[in-house]
Amino acid sequence: MLIRTGGDGFQHPLSSDITPREAYFSRRLWLTALAASGVAWAGREAFAQGSARPNRLAALPGQRSAVDGATSAEKLTSYQDVTQYNNFYEFGTSKSDPAARADSLKPGPWTVQVEGLVNKPGTFDLDALLKLAPMEERIYRLRCVEGWSMVIPWVGYSLSALIKRVEPQGSAKYVEFVTLADPKQMPGLRSRVLDWPYTEGLRLDEALHPLSLLAFGLYGEVLPNQNGAPVRLVVPWKYGFKSAKSIVKIRFTERQPKTAWNEAAPQEYGFYSNVNPQVAHPRWSQASERRIGEEGGLFAKRRPTLMFNGYEKQVGQLYAGMDLSKFY
Ligand code: MTE
Repeated sequence: MLIRTGGDGFQHPLSSDITPREAYFSRRLWLTALAASGVAWAGREAFAQGSARPNRLAALPGQRSAVDGATSAEKLTSYQDVTQYNNFYEFGTSKSDPAARADSLKPGPWTVQVEGLVNKPGTFDLDALLKLAPMEERIYRLRCVEGWSMVIPWVGYSLSALIKRVEPQGSAKYVEFVTLADPKQMPGLRSRVLDWPYTEGLRLDEALHPLSLLAFGLYGEVLPNQNGAPVRLVVPWKYGFKSAKSIVKIRFTERQPKTAWNEAAPQEYGFYSNVNPQVAHPRWSQASERRIGEEGGLFAKRRPTLMFNGYEKQVGQLYAGMDLSKFY
């Protein structure tokens, strides 16, 4: 989503290494068995080792989620594509930069500071976060504002579990997410494409929606650095840039917080940024999308984009009565 290029100016990644869905699901059963036998939380070791190679990350199993809408039946995007085609501008602006350069990110030790309008502010270390609620697997569509999409099996739990733990006060209306901005670990900070740190925000009721996910893993393993290790947000009915990576601070506020992309280009990226095929980006349509990894690359047939990315039944009521072309 580079401002000066825009659109879906995209190079098709190699799709040679697609995990067949059957293989993945039998692996998932194996992981569920591991969880039941108490081998969970192996994640900590991988964070300590900082390993970022596919298939070498520690297992982080999740139980099948019971949250309505949390388990898409669509074909999964391959692990290869999910971890090699990324937006993480702290490591550069090309899609291959994060996978090539995010080795320098140290995903542990790590803390997330929770502050602002809550009764129980505090600093959570990764261990405390990993134990805060049972890990679930959530298969979500991710729709990037640039016009491409993926289907990703995340591991995490509803952000609401953490929110309830810190007890927001009556005056809290918004939640701000602040992500790591360390020039020693993140070479992309040298570029002034965004005003670092990368920040994002949600209305409190959006943050409390059970689909809003605090994610620690994908494909049954801890998050690779390039996908936002060790902890990120995933809000599946909003454009992907709302899903902030490598979070270090969560702040509860009365006023709508500033967000990095909205500050950079307010006419292009609104605070809400709900996926909406009827509201075009000023420079391109949002009516359709390309599913990464599908046969045909750039020339693959595009699929229609769904209202709220297909989660309208679950989240539509959050926006009842709002003019979505005004609150884009
Ligand atoms: N978080 C941070 N800190 N920095 C970023 O550049 N990019 C966003 C979002 N979160 C970004 C970020 C965008 S534009 C998208 S589409 C998703 O992360 C991509 O997530 P993925 O690479 O895991 O698919």
